Amino acid sequence: MNILKSINNRRSIKTFTDRPVSRGEIEQLLDAVCQAPNHRMTEPWRFYVLGPRARHAYGRALGHRKAKRVDDAEAARAVVEKVAETHESLPAMLAVSVTLDENPEIREEDFAAAYMGLQNLSLVAPSMGLGTHIKTGAIMDDPAARAAVGVPEGERIVAIVNVGVPDELPDGKVRRPAGELTTWVE
Ligand SMILES: Cc1cc2nc3c(=O)[nH]c(=O)nc-3n(C[C@H](O)[C@H](O)[C@H](O)COP(=O)(O)O)c2cc1C
Repeated sequence: MNILKSINNRRSIKTFTDRPVSRGEIEQLLDAVCQAPNHRMTEPWRFYVLGPRARHAYGRALGHRKAKRVDDAEAARAVVEKVAETHESLPAMLAVSVTLDENPEIREEDFAAAYMGLQNLSLVAPSMGLGTHIKTGAIMDDPAARAAVGVPEGERIVAIVNVGVPDELPDGKVRRPAGELTTWVE
C-alpha cells in the first residue's frame, strides 16, 4: 500500500471480529515500533502483550474509575464487570511504556519517539488486515492498572493499543487542512 494512502485511510478501530491476533502478527507490529527514529538511540519503548487475565485486571482497574461516577452500588459493580469483560474479550491488547530517563529533555524525546513508533504500528497494521485503537488517560498511572500490566518502577505506560481485525471501518474524521494552520515565515 502506498504510504500516503495508508496515512489517509488509517482509522481508530473500536470494534473487532472474534478472529484472534497471532503472536507472529504482534511481533511484526512491535518490530515496526522499534524502527522509529529515536534520539541518541535510547530505544525507550517497552512492550507488554496482555493475555485475557491481564486484560480483565486492567479492565477492572478502569471500571473502578468509571464506577466512581455511579451512585448506585449494584450499578457500579455492573460497570466494573462490564468494562473488565469488554477488555478481556479484545482480540489483543498491548501496553507500550517508555523508560524514564533522569534528564527531562531525554524523557520528552523518548516519549516523542515512542509515539513515532506507535504511528508506524498504526500504519503497518492495515497492511496486515488489522486495525488499532490507541487509548490513554490517567488510568495508565493507576497503581491497579500498572500492576495488571506488570510494568516496573522506572517505566511509564504511554499508550494502550487494542488490536484486531476491524469489524467495521468507520468514516474518516475530517481534519482542517494544513494550509489553515500554517504560517510561512520569511
Ligand atoms: C495520544 C492519543 C491518545 C488517545 N487516547 C484515546 C482514548 O483514551 N480513548 C479513545 O477512545 N481514543 C483515543 N485516541 C484516539 C483518538 O480519539 C482518535 O485518533 C481521533 O478521534 C481521530 O480518529 P481517527 O484515529 O480514526 O482518525 C487517542 C489517540 C492518540 C493519538
